[in-house]
Amino acid sequence: MKEKIENLLEEVKAFNADNLEQLEAFRIKYLSKKGIVTALFADFRNVAPEQRKEMGQLMNGLKTAVQDRIVSLKEGLEKQVDDNTEKPDLTLPSAAPLGSRHPLSIVRNDIIDIFSRIGFTVSEGPEIEDDFHNFSALNFPADHPARDMQDTFFIEKDPDIALRTHTSSVQVRVMQNTAPPIRTISPGRVFRNEAISARAHCIFHQVEGLYVDTDVSFVDLKQTLYYFAKELFGENTKIRFRPSYFPFTEPSAEMDISCNICGGKGCNICKYSGWVEILGCGMVDPNVLESCGIDNKKYTGFAFGMGIERITMLKYQINDLRLFFENDVRFLEQFKSSM
Ligand code: DAH
Repeated sequence: MKEKIENLLEEVKAFNADNLEQLEAFRIKYLSKKGIVTALFADFRNVAPEQRKEMGQLMNGLKTAVQDRIVSLKEGLEKQVDDNTEKPDLTLPSAAPLGSRHPLSIVRNDIIDIFSRIGFTVSEGPEIEDDFHNFSALNFPADHPARDMQDTFFIEKDPDIALRTHTSSVQVRVMQNTAPPIRTISPGRVFRNEAISARAHCIFHQVEGLYVDTDVSFVDLKQTLYYFAKELFGENTKIRFRPSYFPFTEPSAEMDISCNICGGKGCNICKYSGWVEILGCGMVDPNVLESCGIDNKKYTGFAFGMGIERITMLKYQINDLRLFFENDVRFLEQFKSSM
C-alpha cells in the first residue's frame, strides 16, 4: 500500500491540465466519492495498527498534494482564459477609420509654417477681451461708426467685456509686452453676431500678422504677402492691392490673389473677375503704436489679417462654410496632411 501511495503521489505531481475540463476530471478521479483518495481512506480500517501512523501521514500527504495541484493548475488556467478573452489583441489591425486633421487645422498649420520660415513667431491671446484691446487701442474711437463694422457679442457692459471680434486684439497685447523688432502671427477663433449662412458664421478663425521695426515700409508688406500667397496657392499666383479702410492701419488695403480655380480667366468663384480677395492689411497707424507704448517716431510696422475659413474654401474649393462645423466624417476624411 505504501508503494501504491508513493506512486500516486508521483503521478499527482506530474499531472498537467490543458484546460479546466481536464482539471475537473482529475479532481473527480482523486477526490470524488468514488475517487482514489476517498477509497484509500475507506480502506484505512484494514491497515495494521502499527502501520497506521505512517500510512495516515502518507494518505494525508497525498490528499493535500492533490488539492494543492488543483489550486495551482486552476490559477494558471484561469489566467490563460483571462488573457485569451478579456485583453485586446494589440497586434490586430484597427477596425475604426483613421482620424484626419480638420481642413481648418491643416490650413492654419500651413500658414504658420510659411510665416515661421521667414522669422515670424506665433502668439496667442484671450478670446474674451476688454474694449481697450479689441477696439480702443486699435484706434476705434468711442461711438465711432467703425465699431459697427463688426457685430459684437458683449458679455458685460460698462466697462465693456466682449468676445473678440478679430485677432487684431492680439497684436495690441504683443506690442504692449514686447520691444521691437516684432514679427508675429496670431491664429485664433473670433466671434461675430452674424446670421449663419454658406458664407458667414458667428464663430470663425483668423490669422493676424504684425511686423514692427525701424524703417518698415509698404514694400516690405507687399513682398511678405507676395511670398505668402505664392507659398500657399502656388508659384504662378499673382497679387494685387486695392485701397481700403481699417481704423488701425493707414494706409489700408485689401489684397486679392489671381483666382486659383480658373487661373484668372474668370469663373463663378471669382465672379468672372479673375481675382479673389483674401486679406486686409496696411501700415500700422501711428496712434496704435502709441496706444501700445511703442515710439512711433522711431518705429513703423505693417499688419494683416485673414480668415482661415475663406482661405480654406479657396484652397480646397469648398462652397459652403457650414461644412467646417458639422463634423461629417464623409467631408472630413477627404483631407489628408503631413502636418
Ligand atoms: N481685423 C480685420 C478684420 O477682422 C482684419 C485686418 C485687416 C487685420 C487689416 C489687420 C489689418 O491687421 O491690417 O476684418
